Amino acid sequence: WYQQTLSVVVVGASGDLAKRKTYPSLLKLFEENLLPTDSIIYGYARSCKSHEEFRRHLLPHLKKTGTNEIIVKDFLSKCYYHSGKTYGDKSAYADMIGDGLVPFEESTKNTVSNRLFYLAVPPDVFGESGVVIKTHGMSTTGWTRVVIEKPFGRDLESCDALLQTLSENFEEHHLYRIDHYLGKEIVQNMLMFRFSNSFWEPIWNSDTIESVVITFKEPFGTDGRGGYFDKYGIIRDILQNHLLQVATLFAMEPPKNEDADAIRDAKVEVLKNMEILSLQDCLLGQYDGYSDDPTITNKDTNCPTYAAIRCKINTPRWTGVPFILQAGKAMDEKVCDIQVRFKPAKSFPSMRRSSKNFFENAPAEMVMRLQPDPCIFLNLNIKSPGLSTMPTRGNMVMRYEDMPNLSNPDAYTRLLLDVIRGKQGSFVRDDELRFSWQIFTPLLHDIDDTKVRPLPYRYGSSGPANREAWMAEM
Ligand code: BG6
Repeated sequence: WYQQTLSVVVVGASGDLAKRKTYPSLLKLFEENLLPTDSIIYGYARSCKSHEEFRRHLLPHLKKTGTNEIIVKDFLSKCYYHSGKTYGDKSAYADMIGDGLVPFEESTKNTVSNRLFYLAVPPDVFGESGVVIKTHGMSTTGWTRVVIEKPFGRDLESCDALLQTLSENFEEHHLYRIDHYLGKEIVQNMLMFRFSNSFWEPIWNSDTIESVVITFKEPFGTDGRGGYFDKYGIIRDILQNHLLQVATLFAMEPPKNEDADAIRDAKVEVLKNMEILSLQDCLLGQYDGYSDDPTITNKDTNCPTYAAIRCKINTPRWTGVPFILQAGKAMDEKVCDIQVRFKPAKSFPSMRRSSKNFFENAPAEMVMRLQPDPCIFLNLNIKSPGLSTMPTRGNMVMRYEDMPNLSNPDAYTRLLLDVIRGKQGSFVRDDELRFSWQIFTPLLHDIDDTKVRPLPYRYGSSGPANREAWMAEM
């Protein structure tokens, strides 16, 4: 594909996502020579701007990446801008393509022209954008790929409507639904880690594993995003997508092969075997002062900003092992990890009572930390070093930052490269999305209908007061 042209169109180019993630990621790919030499990037949005004004708008966000100024300048020379009245403005798209993309594609020696549309816009305009892309934007010589971002609906019904709208214009191979957690290093490593080390497979199941806790915590609140957040809440924002995706990769059976569909088939099997959630399965919290955010209009909101959910996966591998997914805003730290707690070792006959207690109370665990500093560590029981024969804890740690030639690109950069290379394995397929909403929808409707009050917790704390007791009920 180096000998093919690439035209990228970022729809919603002046928005937050485009300037924080899409453009910096495209810049990174350009810097690494991972964009074809003949590439062009058009920004499309509603505000009227010249190409030069748009480049000036992007500049501070690109500078923040720390990329060399000459490279930034070269990159910006490939960036153009076009505005339209709406995101479905037919004549504006036709002009952008007819006067921008087509002459560029024809000016090169390449005979294959590929097009990538990145919809950095809210889902309620996916439909209208889809129609104009379908009528004016499809490449006739190469591929056309359309990248979309969550939220993919608020529940099963709205997700179905969205999938229907998209399927009217595109086939599944055109669509790349981003869940950026699938682009994080530890998540990308999951299959290799699990299936290329033979010793894991015999113990990666309910014989040895007692529980799996997947945690997401952020030390800040809605930060001016209250208008969006209050309509969705933490379950739709983090658990139903990011944490569930991590859980399916952790729990899935080995895929038949490395193809994108085989990987997604294996993930879907996990989702099909997950129990549908209800209010009894969860603990909800809301941080003090949440509704003081001026962008939240309903001051009596019962929107959860913290949730812990007990999931059950009824496959032979996992029956009886609780999977706890928990996420919270305005908590005591920024962290996301998977904690795997192993069953206590069976004591051997000559073991002293005190050692036995130690093992029972401190079973071995493995932590896979996605962020802030990706690492994998094992906390194990060992003999206290020296003359003592009493047990103690030891750690085996693998830190990414200690690795030579470390490169830890942003999740969006990796995923955009996958789009360009046509690798769909780290993107969410339509059936996966449906099953994930099926699991969460009854719970979400219960929260909305019963107006259940989340438990309060202090901003910057570790969550509602009874969180530990709830967790201990596992
Ligand atoms: C987004 C959520 O999907 O993920 C945000 O909408 C959240 O609320 C963000 O802050 C977290 O992403 P990351 O990569 O910073 O952990």
